[in-house]
Amino acid sequence: MGHAEPTLHGQAAAAKISLDEYWMPFTPNRDFKADPQMVVRAEGMYLWDDKGNRIIDASSGLFCVAAGHGRSEIADAVGRQLRELDFCAPFLRAHPKQFEFASRIAELTPGDLNRIFFVNSGSESVDTAMKVALAYHQARGQGGRNVFVSRERAYHGVNFGGVSLSGLVNNRRKYGPGLPGIAHMRHTHLPENLFTQGQGAHGAELAEDLVRIVNLYGAENIAACFVEPIAGSTGCLVPPKGYLERLREICDTHGILLVFDEVITGFGRTGQAFAAQSFGVTPDVMTMAKGLTNGAQPMGAVAVSERIHDTIMGAAPEGAIEFFHGYTYSGHPAACAAGIATLDIYRDEGLFERARELSPYFLDALFALKDVPVVADIRGYGLMAGIDLRADGAPGRRGQLFQRRLFDHGLNLKTTGDCAIVAPPLIAGKEHIDMIADVLRRTLVTL
Ligand SMILES: Cc1ncc(COP(=O)(O)O)c(C=O)c1O
Repeated sequence: MGHAEPTLHGQAAAAKISLDEYWMPFTPNRDFKADPQMVVRAEGMYLWDDKGNRIIDASSGLFCVAAGHGRSEIADAVGRQLRELDFCAPFLRAHPKQFEFASRIAELTPGDLNRIFFVNSGSESVDTAMKVALAYHQARGQGGRNVFVSRERAYHGVNFGGVSLSGLVNNRRKYGPGLPGIAHMRHTHLPENLFTQGQGAHGAELAEDLVRIVNLYGAENIAACFVEPIAGSTGCLVPPKGYLERLREICDTHGILLVFDEVITGFGRTGQAFAAQSFGVTPDVMTMAKGLTNGAQPMGAVAVSERIHDTIMGAAPEGAIEFFHGYTYSGHPAACAAGIATLDIYRDEGLFERARELSPYFLDALFALKDVPVVADIRGYGLMAGIDLRADGAPGRRGQLFQRRLFDHGLNLKTTGDCAIVAPPLIAGKEHIDMIADVLRRTLVTL
């Protein structure tokens, strides 16, 4: 496969740079700056730090780099695009790659989710999906529907819409009450399903929380129900068998839109293009980002059913803007070029099928860590798994220590609290999975 020229320059180590000015997101800045773990190069399955150490990337960057790092096909496409057309106003003007990329995405989405709105991140895709839901109900004369339903332990990004939907206390507690009119269902992490590979047998009945919310607020006031098909950032909570199907039924009965946030699960992570296809449940709206451009350009998108799109179009007067929403960088030429090159790689290398085939080996390798005393639970589906550590008294402290120590042992992954989330690039082979499992075990026993 085509990767960028692998030369290591040792830039960060050589140049004296100040660490003071850059305020790092979602990072204990003081700890990092006291002992920086600086990455200077990446290729395929690996990162290199500024000391020349090779680190296997067990979280695909941040669940983005499905086709592996440093893909020269994508870099070349972006370079060509910037030289040909660097920018084009996304309002009132367009460039061909926006249409081409939207068509290519629509080939992958389930059902009739064939209308694609471009944004720049997962967070923006969530806020955009909320606006689509509100605009749709207004367009069909049900403007009273403005309550949203979400779930505990959900992560829907960091903008105010997404934070209001979110079910993670640390992402909410400093930022006030958020948007009004958001109700949360219970999460689906049940003790009965501990150490289950794939979908747990228990918990489909938790979907009935949506009925309780309907009974409390009135269906005529509810716009949409947002769920991650697999709750990702909170630690890979796989939906119990029958759960998503039941949510779909309840939404249909009550005229509520079902929105799948596929920012992590999209583009092969579950062994199909989208988790919607893996679980056989088609939502009305779907958000995506991350794997959309293999992480090479910031971009997100919202896929909307033709019915919803056409209703919004049909309600606007002739000649009027139908949907008052958009970003300066919606469908940026370089991002579209990166995205098209990315989808070519996924198709040509059969990466979604590859993920599906590797999944049992991957899950077996991780579930073999079950005997390590500090491991409290393991869950997984496709090429994603969560490993819960027993807290050491201060929640999150052991998880933080774990991820730092893993990096020192040559493995990069994301932890949330005391949960490690393992999601290697889809180009991984069995030898990479063995290496990941080996470093995990060697590090787990030191905690
Ligand atoms: C399900 C989900 N939605 C939204 C987001 C937010 O995406 P971004 O960080 O690109 O804004 C994330 C990020 O991890 C996510 O996992």
